[in-house]
Amino acid sequence: MIKDKKILLGVSGGIAAYKACALTSKLTQQGANVKVVMTKSAVEFVSPLTFQALSRNPVYTDTFDEKDPSKIAHIDLADWADFILLAPATANIIGKLANGIADDMLSTLLLASEAPVYIAPAMNVHMYAHPAVRKNMQQLESWGYHFIEPGAGYLACGYVGKGRLEEPETIIETIIHHQREEMIENLSGKKVLISAGPTREKVDPVRYFTNRSSGKMGFALAEAAAAQGAEVTLIAGPSEQVLKEQNIHRINVVTAAEMYEEMHRHYAASDIVIKAAAVADYKPKHVYTEKMKKQGGNLQLEMVRTQDILMSLGNKKDKQFLVGFAAETNEPLKYGLQKLRAKNLDAIIINNVAAQGAGFEGDTNMVTYVNKQEDRNEIGLATKTEVAKSIIQLILRDMKDEDM
Ligand code: CTP
Repeated sequence: MIKDKKILLGVSGGIAAYKACALTSKLTQQGANVKVVMTKSAVEFVSPLTFQALSRNPVYTDTFDEKDPSKIAHIDLADWADFILLAPATANIIGKLANGIADDMLSTLLLASEAPVYIAPAMNVHMYAHPAVRKNMQQLESWGYHFIEPGAGYLACGYVGKGRLEEPETIIETIIHHQREEMIENLSGKKVLISAGPTREKVDPVRYFTNRSSGKMGFALAEAAAAQGAEVTLIAGPSEQVLKEQNIHRINVVTAAEMYEEMHRHYAASDIVIKAAAVADYKPKHVYTEKMKKQGGNLQLEMVRTQDILMSLGNKKDKQFLVGFAAETNEPLKYGLQKLRAKNLDAIIINNVAAQGAGFEGDTNMVTYVNKQEDRNEIGLATKTEVAKSIIQLILRDMKDEDM
């Protein structure tokens, strides 16, 4: 939820600005890219240099300080952010936002941004209770701004009561919790169709062709989608994997032809389709009904092509968000991109199966997610469960962007 997120941290002028330093550090340590915007009053409390060092990004304080002439900083930042966090948020910045006032860098970009905004207020207990502040907060809440309530306790002004900026850990937990809930909301009612595992192509009653796929990645994707409220159908090739989630509709298949049938049967009703299975590209032309007896000399078997299931789904795609996998051992990006385009996909997950810790059978993976705009996201070495969660998040992000 935090890793690789682009977070714009707005710091306004209150003594709690010092806590925003710890917040920046924690977010950065968790893999977020944090850019800090400070009001003039905030600069009275903490030096921009502190935030610059902690975030390893330039700090913005002035609307007219254009660091890059090819961009307009406040618009660029407003568009850049995955979400904005105002911490601490003073009565003043809350009041400005609620009333459409844009007279400095922070208030201007707040009006220019469409990103979700989390507001963590910090102020004197009487200020927090003042009807003007309450009214402004209610107004913002009605527009979809999310508040992270201040804690109660000793305040720097000497009073005891509500108004203390929530602790950085709690702020981060609240945001993660909220984003998870939103994701569940996004996936609930959505129909997700996933294929997993290998296929088996029979030669005779005792022999078949298959591959090393264990089904772990596809099963992890099914579990991740179901845990987030989706209605999941899993078309599974022969696999020893067991589902932990009860509410997944598992259909077992053996051959590529059976997988083709089942995928097409469920395709029209699906919103998201992920083709994680390692499908055989060839099958024996002739399937022997009796066990083949060995002959003198070598054996030659004629193999014929199976259907490319993913390609056929891409050709009849309408509303579905269609995701493929590319298992590669050399030039993964080049071949992955070719598959993305050739199969009319919305995204492809490129798996360099030759890399250490990645690919078939193991419990970990490392992939590159590329969407149809060809934006790349690297998902570093992690358990297949974690990789699956990240993939679902990226799919949701791209589906949301498409809706806009
Ligand atoms: N795929 C499919 N049907 C096939 C072969 C592949 O649906 N007959 C799907 C896989 O499920 C995967 C994607 O296509 O999502 C890419 O599979 P991969 O084996 O990496 O590539 P191929 O398209 O088979 O191409 P090549 O074997 O030349 O790398």
